[in-house]
Amino acid sequence: TKTLEDADYRPHFHFAPEKHWMNDPNGMFYLDGTYHLFYQYYPDGNVWGPMHWGHATTKDLLRWDEKPIAIYPDSLGYIFSGSAVVDLKNSSGLGTRENPPVVAMFTYHDPIKEREGRENFQNQAIAYSTDQGATWRKYAMNPVIPNPGIKDFRDPKIHWDAEHQQWIVVLAVLDRVYFYTSKDLKEWTKVSEFGNGQGAHGGVWECPDFFPMPVAGTNETKWVLIQSLNPGAINGGSGTQYFIGDFDGKVFTPVKAMQNLPENHSYWLDFGRDNYAGVSWANLPEKDGRILYLGWMTNWQYAQEVPTETWRGAMTLPRELTLHKQQNQYRLHTAPAQELWAYTDTIRYQKQVTVDADITLAPGSEVDLTKTVITFSIPDVAKQKYTFQLTSAADTLTFGYDGNTDSFFLDRSAMATSGFHPDFASHQVIAPRISKDKQITVTLILDTTSLELFFDDGVTVMTNIFFPKFPLTELIAVQSIIPYQLKDVNINQLKL
Ligand code: FRU
Repeated sequence: TKTLEDADYRPHFHFAPEKHWMNDPNGMFYLDGTYHLFYQYYPDGNVWGPMHWGHATTKDLLRWDEKPIAIYPDSLGYIFSGSAVVDLKNSSGLGTRENPPVVAMFTYHDPIKEREGRENFQNQAIAYSTDQGATWRKYAMNPVIPNPGIKDFRDPKIHWDAEHQQWIVVLAVLDRVYFYTSKDLKEWTKVSEFGNGQGAHGGVWECPDFFPMPVAGTNETKWVLIQSLNPGAINGGSGTQYFIGDFDGKVFTPVKAMQNLPENHSYWLDFGRDNYAGVSWANLPEKDGRILYLGWMTNWQYAQEVPTETWRGAMTLPRELTLHKQQNQYRLHTAPAQELWAYTDTIRYQKQVTVDADITLAPGSEVDLTKTVITFSIPDVAKQKYTFQLTSAADTLTFGYDGNTDSFFLDRSAMATSGFHPDFASHQVIAPRISKDKQITVTLILDTTSLELFFDDGVTVMTNIFFPKFPLTELIAVQSIIPYQLKDVNINQLKL
């Protein structure tokens, strides 16, 4: 069998740039049937460098078109992460009512000031497009939020706050976020801060997002603060925690159970090692009503060394977030955007599979394991360990659920190529079980080098990348001490 290389590692239905380095998703908005994605991009190499905003679009959230670079660095600095909104009422005056401008806010990172040891090298600036995001002009009066003398001052996320009829920006400032409001997207007033001493702080806070969400099955609305940090994630390196609370137009107050959240809490959008800097799409049509989210599918610990050369970096699948209240706790649930199911073909379905020996659930001879969606449920959570293995001639990726510790696990140390970075192989990924249901539902999405696992209807998610040396041959359910039943085992092939 031939050893896998670059071309084999390219995802089929996740976004990855044709060439060169990509990190965070930026400026995601929807307009006239098209979802736009911008991203941190370095067009001259396959490691991080002077940042541009790359651009890609999709109409179905699975098939992407890469566009020309949208925003280039200039004398004020590199173009760091940020967001974009369609300014429907032309509140900024940067377009017209008939042709509303798209307004992006990003961080100018000035490498010269940084080298000189000055503190104010990160400032917020805007750019606008009057041709639906194709080309961008920088605003003449930049920056719009100048740096008050703090090193880490970046990643503005804009949101139209319909309740209080104002624009909001949430900004990452070292170990907290600042909230700003505006009427015109140009003049901003700081209204509050949040985060000092709240939640995980093993590293610097980056790429926040802030928006209201209905609580499923109720008339209640809560505000959600999504907060990436690096390092300091629950499973090491980069990761994303969240806070649920109320917002009075100025101040965010977490719900009681989430006030003074300890460092080692369990409110993580993803417990896997490879989902960072994710944010939501702006301007989804009201009738859609979803919160759609996407993250950068790697970890700063080893992102610049993963074994692809022509390009580096891919995004997670677009995902739908929903907010639920269970046992008096608010929890975000994540599911792959439903568009995925339009591209799946059932290859094999079994109502019940008895695992009394190692059982091949998905043989590589029947299904192409580089693009597969598998769902099943584990009906019994007795003190038992349920182990699954993805295997090739030289690789084993192990994951499952351990009823003795009530936790999910994933281990990629037995993948042949995992040695490219010590942090990649060595880390066991562990996630506590949050749901109390009798059944553990599992959705597993494979796309060449990524495994996205949604447990318990997405209240526990694990996203991890891996680089097999040889093509995967099987998904195996490993026998446990006592035989057990898997239910509704559905093996799907992606038609992409
Ligand atoms: C997060 C981040 C952001 C910054 C960008 C620079 O991954 O560090 O805080 O804006 O990357 O590329």
